[in-house]
Amino acid sequence: MKYDVKDIKLASEGKKLIEWAGRDMPVLKIISERFSKGKVLKGVKLAACLHVTSETANLMIALKAAGADTILCASNPLSTNDAVAASLAKDYGIPTYAIKGEDGKTYFKHLRAALDFGPNQTMDDGADLVGMIHTEYKKLIPTVVGSTEETTTGVIRLRAMEADGTLKIPVLAVNDNLTKHLFDNRYGTGQSTIDGILRATNILLAGQTFVVCGYGWCGRGVASRAHGMGAHVIVCEIDPIKALEAKMDGYRVMKLTDAIAEADIVVSVTGNKHVIDADQMKRAKDGVILAQAGHFDVEINKVALKKMAKSVKQVRPFVQAFAVGTKTIYLLAEGRLVNLSAAEGHPASVMDMSFAGQALSAQYMWENRGKLEPKVYNLPYKLDEEIAKLKLKAEGVSYDVLTKEQKEYLASWEEGTKE
Ligand code: ADE
Repeated sequence: MKYDVKDIKLASEGKKLIEWAGRDMPVLKIISERFSKGKVLKGVKLAACLHVTSETANLMIALKAAGADTILCASNPLSTNDAVAASLAKDYGIPTYAIKGEDGKTYFKHLRAALDFGPNQTMDDGADLVGMIHTEYKKLIPTVVGSTEETTTGVIRLRAMEADGTLKIPVLAVNDNLTKHLFDNRYGTGQSTIDGILRATNILLAGQTFVVCGYGWCGRGVASRAHGMGAHVIVCEIDPIKALEAKMDGYRVMKLTDAIAEADIVVSVTGNKHVIDADQMKRAKDGVILAQAGHFDVEINKVALKKMAKSVKQVRPFVQAFAVGTKTIYLLAEGRLVNLSAAEGHPASVMDMSFAGQALSAQYMWENRGKLEPKVYNLPYKLDEEIAKLKLKAEGVSYDVLTKEQKEYLASWEEGTKE
């Protein structure tokens, strides 16, 4: 079996990490047991392009146990856990192509290795495989049944492909599962982004002015966790409704150009490019820390920052100091997603639901092969709800159900104010 990992001797360390994460993934475990009994993915040749973490490892193991022939490559050059990658290759027999810190050339070599495998189904975090299938690997289009997409950025791209008629295969937007974005994006990104910033810098958040760009589910999570640790949070938004929501959630809402002049830390979680641009960086305070947790490394205009800087120094792992005029601007994790670069990404307990969604989506895609149009679909609500039910059961939480009388009342329109 072929693979490309940093050091295969790291496998035993990686296996422990995979098993540790597995403890906190009960929903995936139940689905995996069900899948492996029925071998529901028999016949699937699945290429996955995901962050190579201990949580992803548990997903890949579940997909393989379900009968799929699998291959895995990294969905980001900095997010790989090298020990996990080694263990997947050595202990679990999953061809893995991922090295933390790989350059652009290696990153694309790894994507090509996944597509040269000749998959009939793909799984993406950021739509890189689907993108390549529509450019360099068009020959795969007739045989690829479809793909499943993990992240907001990927879904945005796929919807753009659908809108301009480019998309030629069906895709399930796993990100749009309620059991994904309400939890992973909010509590996962909320915690792991703060975790990445703290591991990189070891600063005290209490009392700091912490600017969050973007108040989607990720931004809401980051703002709430920063606030919880005593930071003064300012939210910057372009959407008036979200800006209003942030205001009523108790945050100051300002334009970034003004907020950055007060900021100790600025985090961008918008999914858009050049959110923190040269003009804003010029107005930043000396010592400001910039980070982002969006999928691509475009939210902070790194090119402009480099141009403006007299010198750049690596002052700690994942912290670069840019000398700009009389100021120092610190950039975390080379402007890549700080939560997966400087920390370990979202904890297993929340990835449990996201990856249960991936597993059920992979099954749905396979069982509906040939029946779906080249469009972006949502997973049926029933399956989303099933994930929530399994999670509540695993956590020992019971909840109420409607009585017959209540169901009838909700289904009727006659009953209301009595005369
Ligand atoms: N995305 C965010 N956190 C992750 C994790 N722990 N594993 C895989 N993908 C992730």
